[in-house]
Amino acid sequence: MAKDIHSKAASPLPPYFSIDPDAALAELGQPTDTARFAEIAEGCARGRSDLASRGLNEEGAKSLRLFSTWEITRYLIPVAQAHFRRVLKANPELPQGRSETEGGAKWFTLDEVLRLRAFFAAQGSKAKNYLPYRPEGLAAKLVAVANFKGGVGKTSTAAHLAMSAALDGYKVLVIDLDSQGSMTSIFGGRVEDEWKTAFPLLARHYGEHLRLENQRRLDRGDAPHPLDESLSAAMEMTAADVIQPTHWPNIDLIGAQLNLYWAEFQIPVWRMAARSWKLWDALTDRLEADGVLDQYDVIFIDTPPALGYLTINGLSAADILLVPMGASFLEFDSTGRFFDMLHSTFASIEEGENLAARALGRPEIGFEWDAVRAVITRYDSAQQGELAGLVQAYMGPTLSPHRQDFTALIGQAGEQVNGIYEADYRDFNRETYARGRETFDETYAAFKKLLAGVWRREELALQAERAAS
Ligand SMILES: Nc1ncnc2c1ncn2[C@@H]1O[C@H](COP(=O)(O)OP(=O)(O)O)[C@@H](O)[C@H]1O
Ligand SMILES: [Mg+2]
Repeated sequence: MAKDIHSKAASPLPPYFSIDPDAALAELGQPTDTARFAEIAEGCARGRSDLASRGLNEEGAKSLRLFSTWEITRYLIPVAQAHFRRVLKANPELPQGRSETEGGAKWFTLDEVLRLRAFFAAQGSKAKNYLPYRPEGLAAKLVAVANFKGGVGKTSTAAHLAMSAALDGYKVLVIDLDSQGSMTSIFGGRVEDEWKTAFPLLARHYGEHLRLENQRRLDRGDAPHPLDESLSAAMEMTAADVIQPTHWPNIDLIGAQLNLYWAEFQIPVWRMAARSWKLWDALTDRLEADGVLDQYDVIFIDTPPALGYLTINGLSAADILLVPMGASFLEFDSTGRFFDMLHSTFASIEEGENLAARALGRPEIGFEWDAVRAVITRYDSAQQGELAGLVQAYMGPTLSPHRQDFTALIGQAGEQVNGIYEADYRDFNRETYARGRETFDETYAAFKKLLAGVWRREELALQAERAAS
């Protein structure tokens, strides 16, 4: 068979040999000017809203599918179907679901599933953990998903983790720091401008710093720096002003859109004006001040494919850092350089801060993350086993032992449905569905193990601290 490739008669010339310049010119069209970009963008925007409007409900919003008794008892509330039905029958005040045909399978909204789970947790077997582990009195955990390479699965991983954590019963906030807004689209967010993004939270943090500085200046008899109009506006804003609900009852969103990119120019200008402003604390400080860390269990931050100021903010806010990468040479290579850049970026911040701290006799700072893991995404075991093994050998425990398989379920699900957890399993071959779901369930399980370990460590430390005092 391999010989065929050499037989001239069988194959025509390669496509790049027979190009006629006149025919090429005839096809070319006019040169492109700037205005043409606007027209192209316009066309894309119309196409996008056409696609996005398909499958929306009457109010023009996304809606989440229903969950069947089979899926609930298989994946969400692990009890026998017969037992599940008996409990519903015995408790008519509980959601009873709806069926498409007389006597057909019962389907429930996620809200109803959450109520049912709470009931089983309160009444059911104590041996089963119907509700996910969440130590009392501890803050929400922030999880940043980052890598400066695009297309490695940051957004898909963050979105699927957010959805599986929500299905598991956690209250989830998703923060989109990528001005491309993919995460925002997935969660049906509406963001008019940068005032509906994380931007005002960062601006307010800077504004608060400026106010303190000004107080000091006044005390010294110096003239205060004026707060410009947009900073003054930000001083009135809280996280609640930028958090929006989504079609998931227990997932909220701080969205993004193109204007958020403005922050990449604005932040360094602020930093130049006030060298002592700790921009890396901005997001955490504001979320904490506005009570967000008490209102949610897990906060996922999706970042742009760059190590810019927004990413630095997301990374320094994070307790857990996940770095998705494909098992290919190029992605391994660029992930290595990403860690190198993380080192130099944070080391130079620490150095700068600690130089000043030492001079003033103040304690030194050091960044710390509860857990950092690289995660192999879009894994093809038939082709990439060897490379993944090599990556494992060189990254050691930093690489999560779980590899997220490539699955055709992603991207096949349709315009309104993003990924596996929003898809209706009846649209797929059951085998394909089960396998695709399994790999994302395992991605979640690997993450949940980190989360549980990190919370447990804190819980034990807190107990030890209380015992000592
Ligand atoms: N496990 C997976 N199996 C198949 N395709 C995937 C998987 N994870 C991500 N993809 C696809 O890879 C592409 C890039 O993923 P995305 O999450 O947008 O990356 P990033 O946010 O890093 O740019 C998307 O088309 C997405 O649908
Ligand atoms: Mg992305």
